[in-house]
Amino acid sequence: MTTELMTQLGYVVAAGLFIFGLKMLGSPATARRGNMISAVGMLVAIVSALLDQGIVDFTYIAAGMVVGGAIGAIAARAVAMTSMPEMVALFNGLGGAASLLVGWSALSADAAIFTLVTIVLSILIGGVTLTGSLIAWGKLSETIGSGAITFSGQQIVNSLVVLGIVGGAAMFCLNPTDPNWLYMVIGLSLLFGVMAVIPIGGADMPVVISLLNSYSGLAACAAGFAINNNALIVAGSLVGASGIILTQIMCKAMNRSLSNVLFSGFASVSTEETVVEGEIKPISVDDAYYVLEAATNVAIIPGYGMAVAQAQHVVKELTELLEKNGCEVNFGIHPVAGRMPGHMNVLLAEADVPYDQLLEMDEINPRMETVDVAIVIGANDVVNPAAREVESSPIYGMPVINVADARTVFVLKRSMASGFAGIENPLFYKDNTRMLFGDAKESIGGLVREFS
Ligand code: TAP
Repeated sequence: MTTELMTQLGYVVAAGLFIFGLKMLGSPATARRGNMISAVGMLVAIVSALLDQGIVDFTYIAAGMVVGGAIGAIAARAVAMTSMPEMVALFNGLGGAASLLVGWSALSADAAIFTLVTIVLSILIGGVTLTGSLIAWGKLSETIGSGAITFSGQQIVNSLVVLGIVGGAAMFCLNPTDPNWLYMVIGLSLLFGVMAVIPIGGADMPVVISLLNSYSGLAACAAGFAINNNALIVAGSLVGASGIILTQIMCKAMNRSLSNVLFSGFASVSTEETVVEGEIKPISVDDAYYVLEAATNVAIIPGYGMAVAQAQHVVKELTELLEKNGCEVNFGIHPVAGRMPGHMNVLLAEADVPYDQLLEMDEINPRMETVDVAIVIGANDVVNPAAREVESSPIYGMPVINVADARTVFVLKRSMASGFAGIENPLFYKDNTRMLFGDAKESIGGLVREFS
């Protein structure tokens, strides 16, 4: 078998493994294996690329893989589940940086116009992804504040930057030997990444992360064309397409269009307008226990606070005790509960809660009227009825879990603080709501002790 044939076969095998791996990520039961299969695909792709380029001395590549792999493994183990979106943002940024550098390295004096265009695209999309992701990381980790940053004349500045990029890219393609045009495109792309993400904030950040994920794939795809590498083109297209699909799903979950997310400065909308009526009615663990003891149908709605409190294991214990008491228990999972897609599913899977007990928002909402007690564990925005009832609310129109339709609602949180979107929640003041204040793990632990 010739090296050429082996290389191309390697690329086909790698592409197949990527596709199978991606498919398996669709279910929590197969996701770990899917991740592993994709990683093996990447190894096959790297070895094939080295053969393709005639690189037989693997020393530096192997050393890079060991060092990079070790850093990745340590970082992935050390990161708290609640900080995972920040880590994904950094990964996206590094992917963008890699594509920028690969595209740049493909530059040669005799490059054809097609190659020049793909070089510009990989540098442009890679640059935007790099700085956009760093800003997203800063916002998610609150290093630079999570709100939208807007200033007058922002649209004009953005338009000038885009014009500069288009002009610089055209001049570069016409004069590829003059590096200044390329430097201009690189500089303006990096600036544009910052400009594109600073006006977005609050609850829109998850959409931005998944969009940047898609961009990192598109940048890799363009880099694949620039260096004529099929595995990179396939992997980049898969990341680009799956990122865009996830972005769409998340926009749908928030009832927003993508252009609305990107250009409306959602978090800058005043939050003063929600006028809340009613009063707060706290409940003790003892009293909450008596209500739960008599319940035959309970819905648990977890949110970010369950992740902070690491309450998933004790929640599972409570579920078992309720079931032993003859009660039906289901979980209502909102698509953007927590801080990353699938956050609640991952936590509950870790605590061995069966998958068939997890109901999506569209499944649990029609059942809510038959629920005796809805227990909201550290969720806030995803159960905020202002999304249905208060037209002036910044989240008006976002689909939420309608916990107020249950006979009684227990809200477990530590204070009256708002959630990620920073807005008031009228749920806490409803007649059928009782506030069980305290750390979610401790409150649920108290209920477990009462039951047992
Ligand atoms: P949030 O609206 O952020 O509310 C979380 C609540 O948990 C807070 O009100 C907080 O109140 C409470 N909490 C924190 N620590 C707690 C603890 N130890 N014990 C008990 N409660 C605790 O959460 P959500 O309802 O899950 O909504 C998610 C929000 O994040 C949405 O706005 C969403 O758009 C956004 N977001 C989502 C993602 C993805 S993809 N899921 C990514 C980024 C952002 P106290 O401080 O009073 O306890």
